[in-house]
Amino acid sequence: MSSAAERYAAVHDAALAAGRFADHRRRADHWADLAELFRVNPYRPWDKNLHAIAGYLQTTDVLLDVGGGAGRVSLPLAGQVHEVVLVEPSDSMRGQFIASRDEAGITNARVSPDWWLDSTETGDVAITSDVVYFVRDIEPFVAKLHNSASRRVIICIWRPTPGDMDNELRRILYDEQPAPWPGLPELATVLWEMGLLPDIQVIPQAPWWIPEAAGGLSDTEAVELAMARLERDDEPTRRQVQDNFDRLFERGPNGLSPRWLSGAREVMITWPTHGVQLV
Ligand SMILES: C[S@@+](CC[C@H](N)C(=O)[O-])C[C@H]1O[C@@H](n2cnc3c(N)ncnc32)[C@H](O)[C@@H]1O
Repeated sequence: MSSAAERYAAVHDAALAAGRFADHRRRADHWADLAELFRVNPYRPWDKNLHAIAGYLQTTDVLLDVGGGAGRVSLPLAGQVHEVVLVEPSDSMRGQFIASRDEAGITNARVSPDWWLDSTETGDVAITSDVVYFVRDIEPFVAKLHNSASRRVIICIWRPTPGDMDNELRRILYDEQPAPWPGLPELATVLWEMGLLPDIQVIPQAPWWIPEAAGGLSDTEAVELAMARLERDDEPTRRQVQDNFDRLFERGPNGLSPRWLSGAREVMITWPTHGVQLV
């Protein structure tokens, strides 16, 4: 029988072979096209996820944000901790982080350009948000998070994963079943086999990069959402969406909501390290 880490790698490899994300074992800037999207105002009102993370922070903490991107998660929390340290190998993401930090006048946040397994950074709380899907060899990555954090590890992922958010839409329209990204079931069993017993908290909020998931759409907006998610702009697809309208959208008092996105949730997986190294 294979180990949970081998099964995680197999799911990763199948998704990679299907061209569903870039191979992050290749040391390139895989985020050049998306870095700007990940730059979000550090002073925006906190969502439920930021509140949940902040509940674990102390003012004396160094918050280590692994694969921190443009600082979307850690810059809003800089005022809650002593220092934010981002570990981020993508030049484009680091550029957006620095611009966002400096424009916001945040002075206790810095960024280091390493891939996580090469990093020497440590902190009190290590967080990694929407990164682990791209990590094939998950055990050493998680072990290093644990061993680099004196108090706690926090892993945030989406269920379904960002890559799988539209699978139900594709199944209904095209009968497609894309190879899934590694997600919560695969990760939870890896952690279990590593002897970790984390708290798993489901955060009830819609995916931040798809505001339409929250609903309130007109008929036209609903069709355009489906077209945009499918990255299509042709009449046959538009007709197909219209033909399946009631399967795809639910009509409520405030307008339409996309059924296939209604169950999407952010999931926070966290455990205390007690300063004890994993061997
Ligand atoms: C989807 S983005 C998430 C960015 C940020 N954490 C957020 O939630 O806004 C994934 C990030 O993980 C980073 N990443 C992927 N593999 C990594 C690794 N092995 N070490 C460090 N960062 C990594 C990428 O460079 C990218 O910035």
